[in-house]
Amino acid sequence: MAWSSVLHALLFFLPAYVANMSPLLVAKAIPGWKAPIDGGRLGKDGRPLLGKGKTWRGLVGGTVLGAATAVAVALLVPAYGEPGFFSGWDYGFQGFDGAPIGSDRPCEDGGTCALDASPLWAVGLYGAILGFAALAGDAVKSYFKRRRGKQGGAPWVPFDQLDFVVFGLIAAFAAAPLLADGWVLAALLDDWVVLATIVVLTPLLHFLVNVIGYWLKLKDVPW
Ligand code: CTP
Ligand code: MG
Repeated sequence: MAWSSVLHALLFFLPAYVANMSPLLVAKAIPGWKAPIDGGRLGKDGRPLLGKGKTWRGLVGGTVLGAATAVAVALLVPAYGEPGFFSGWDYGFQGFDGAPIGSDRPCEDGGTCALDASPLWAVGLYGAILGFAALAGDAVKSYFKRRRGKQGGAPWVPFDQLDFVVFGLIAAFAAAPLLADGWVLAALLDDWVVLATIVVLTPLLHFLVNVIGYWLKLKDVPW
């Protein structure tokens, strides 16, 4: 296992992280747009279907910022096969030939190495899907949270922390065909540390980020 894989995993999942944080930022930017996804409807139990905290603004903001994050990463990270700590973790934007990401290109001596590359629009769409899935997971969680009688904003460990991870990961695998052939599977499965980081470290990070958001007065509660 490689410790660098921890940071590679965080970079891979960055669109979902940004999306998950974005509702708070977008709420500051467009405070007037508050339309709730559930349209104010109640469940059969008389409780809100999702609650006032799940807005279209949050869903759209997360999708857009997820796309922007993936595009920014693709443009900033060095190409596959080039030196650099994050080289090749560009969603396959600058090409990928199926070898483990970060390894030397096996076809370099042959001269003609036809790299499969992810177009930038596909990288953007991939980030949008990751961001959308993260917030859709958050909303699905809220549905069950309301059915359990928990108010919006009340803590519900570990579901508050894991909702966007589960949905984000499913989306990451499902949307793999958008990117360079084999890139997503190589990124997520070549080193088990990558998946482990996303599943295990993310809830801890989520908690940490929320505490910081609370200190910065972006959030009313530290979870
Ligand atoms: N938010 C939003 N739209 C979303 C998700 C979140 O506007 N789709 C904003 C809301 O202002 C929300 C805040 O981000 O209050 C924090 O999000 P979160 O903790 O997910 O929502 P809670 O209010 O805690 O609701 P729940 O108990 O259902 O998780
Ligand atoms: Mg919450």
